[in-house]
Amino acid sequence: MGDIIEEREKIIEEAAQFKKEYESILEPIDELNPKRPFVYISIGGGELGDLVLTAAKRELGGINGGIMTVAIDRYEGFPAQDVADYYEIVDMLNGDALEKCIKKYIPDPKEPHAIYLEIERIDTLRMFKLGKTEGYRIVSTPYAPLIGMDRLGTKLLFEKVGVPVVEWQYADSEEEVKRIAKDMGLPLIIKPIMTSSGHGTTIARTWEDVEKAYEYAVKHARGRGDIVVVERYLEELKEKGTEITQLVLRHFDENGNIVTSLLPPVEHKRPGATYHESWLPATISEEAVRKCQEYAKRVAEYLGGLGIYAVEQFVIGDEVYNSEFANRPHDTGMVTRWALEKDEGALHLLASVGLPLSNELMRLKVKEEYCVAHVVLAPQDLHGEEVPVRGWNAGKVYAYIRKKGYKGDIWYFGKPTAYPSRRMGLAVAYHEDIEEARRRAEEIAHFAEKNIIYEV
Ligand SMILES: Nc1ncnc2c1ncn2[C@@H]1O[C@H](COP(=O)(O)OP(=O)(O)O)[C@@H](O)[C@H]1O
Ligand SMILES: [Mg+2]
Repeated sequence: MGDIIEEREKIIEEAAQFKKEYESILEPIDELNPKRPFVYISIGGGELGDLVLTAAKRELGGINGGIMTVAIDRYEGFPAQDVADYYEIVDMLNGDALEKCIKKYIPDPKEPHAIYLEIERIDTLRMFKLGKTEGYRIVSTPYAPLIGMDRLGTKLLFEKVGVPVVEWQYADSEEEVKRIAKDMGLPLIIKPIMTSSGHGTTIARTWEDVEKAYEYAVKHARGRGDIVVVERYLEELKEKGTEITQLVLRHFDENGNIVTSLLPPVEHKRPGATYHESWLPATISEEAVRKCQEYAKRVAEYLGGLGIYAVEQFVIGDEVYNSEFANRPHDTGMVTRWALEKDEGALHLLASVGLPLSNELMRLKVKEEYCVAHVVLAPQDLHGEEVPVRGWNAGKVYAYIRKKGYKGDIWYFGKPTAYPSRRMGLAVAYHEDIEEARRRAEEIAHFAEKNIIYEV
């Protein structure tokens, strides 16, 4: 089993080496020239791709301002498709197809460009190779996705940079899981090393759960699926604690140095395993805020490069446990669009293009009130995986917010088809009382859900 750890420790060491060399050649951008545009590719063109690429148009003037955008996704009609200058429909898990597509727009990696990996479901290894051996600029660094999508690598990195994690062990057989369960005691949470949205995860409160957990994890895992991570399950988290996504930004300052700026922590609650609602500012203690920011900064500074880092954390009182990280904008962070001076997508884009940014842009815009974003989902009982969406009653939703007298908003993503519980949009509400703000955002979301028309 030793090599399972050694393999990852080696990657973590290499990542630090790569950071040094990479950052020594990164330079702030001066001129943006339409004749030789900066090429910005988003691999994945969902709502987070949209948030990043629209900023290229809105803030920098798009192709005539010297920045050309390309969006890639696997289906026709994806949200960022119509905001990009060019788009491609590609199976993003197919490395050859992806590489060909990147080289079509960036034949020479010495020309100014950046490649943003919006999601995990792409050939990350191929992207790593393009970044490491061919000099393509994978934002923020090609190593970060490699470590971030691997729970074991993530834990080892967190321990390396000295940030707290919940007690954990790893296992590669049912016997090993049982041995660990005897050793650590229950409750535990058992996760495949590579998954998202809770797939293959078991919360084990009884011995029976423990016995079924390994097989269940292996069945639902992605990639190297025979290893699981066994963590102490923090029962207090849902009752007394809360969850944070701590965003930090790596960007140039006015002297040409790369610095790490801290954003206010985003708080979120999830009844299930996927994003449900998030808000700013967070209701945690000052001490917890300080820890959240300090821990995320350490992770970002170890891996380096330019752009957003998002660290998922569990907070109970003043205690902060680090759980996962990604080197890109985060779905819970979409609330920054309403609550910060600039949203996480724009910050990610501007930073990764190489512009020197002011900290003021990362400040809270809301004063004396909370801003809550709540997901708008397709119905749970929708029949089929690709149900066409006919449209939505936009006017009704806007009129509803107005009639209620709410300070609120709606972001409709415009996805052409839906499957059960697919994320279709985001509802937003503000109020000085956090519970009231949450209630209003949920109310708008549920009203909007009833006003999307599916072809059934
Ligand atoms: N050790 C734990 N204790 C308590 N709750 C947990 C623990 N690990 C995960 N969770 C809950 O499950 C959610 C999803 O877990 P996470 O590790 O982030 O996996 P995913 O990749 O599916 O997002 C978390 O946001 C949290 O609500
Ligand atoms: Mg998570």
